[in-house]
Amino acid sequence: MKFFIDTANLAEIREANDMGILDGVTTNPSLMAKEGITGANNILNHYVQICNIVDGPVSAEVIATDYEGMVREGEALAELHPNIVVKIPMITEGIKAIKYFSQKGIPTNCTLIFSAGQALLAAKAGATFISPFLGRLDDVSTDGLSLIQQIRTIYDNYDFGTEILAASIRHPMHIIHCASIGADVMTGPLSAIKALAKHPLTDIGLQQFLADHAKGNK
Ligand code: E4P
Repeated sequence: MKFFIDTANLAEIREANDMGILDGVTTNPSLMAKEGITGANNILNHYVQICNIVDGPVSAEVIATDYEGMVREGEALAELHPNIVVKIPMITEGIKAIKYFSQKGIPTNCTLIFSAGQALLAAKAGATFISPFLGRLDDVSTDGLSLIQQIRTIYDNYDFGTEILAASIRHPMHIIHCASIGADVMTGPLSAIKALAKHPLTDIGLQQFLADHAKGNK
């Protein structure tokens, strides 16, 4: 399972990358705004900075919602760095844009996926990744993990090469469940990634080992 970090915060991206387990980055317009990155040039420059930290796919989202606009923006984003993945919303114009980029060999991430039908359409259009928003479904009392499972079954039935990028991850159990289901990638906050390492028995055990070592070496 690939691990992406879902942030535009450079310090967090560096920290996750330094752990040696980071395979890529996802961003979205809200995450960019949260870091105070505004204005077309600053936004493009920020993507390049992220690409210079992580050697893996970096999703950069288009703002346009019409086909021509998405194609124009996506081509500009793809020119920034070979690792850029053009992130496109699941709308009908977006499906056309995904098909266009797929034919040009430019990788895409179809975002805002909330149903199996949307995932099927994106795969047929040739999306490289699709992002089902697990946490946001859970937030409205709908089982996000069932959706991931359903998409896994559909993609396996027809050998779709599109990768399931489980997004909107909220906590470590989301990551573990997605790994059990067989999601290809997960993207989550640094807190959820770091939480995977924590276990109280590990802390107690380590404390004991160090105390016993200290006793024996007095
Ligand atoms: C996916 O690529 C999105 O950036 C993200 O996972 C959305 O997560 P949220 O629901 O925590 O905003």
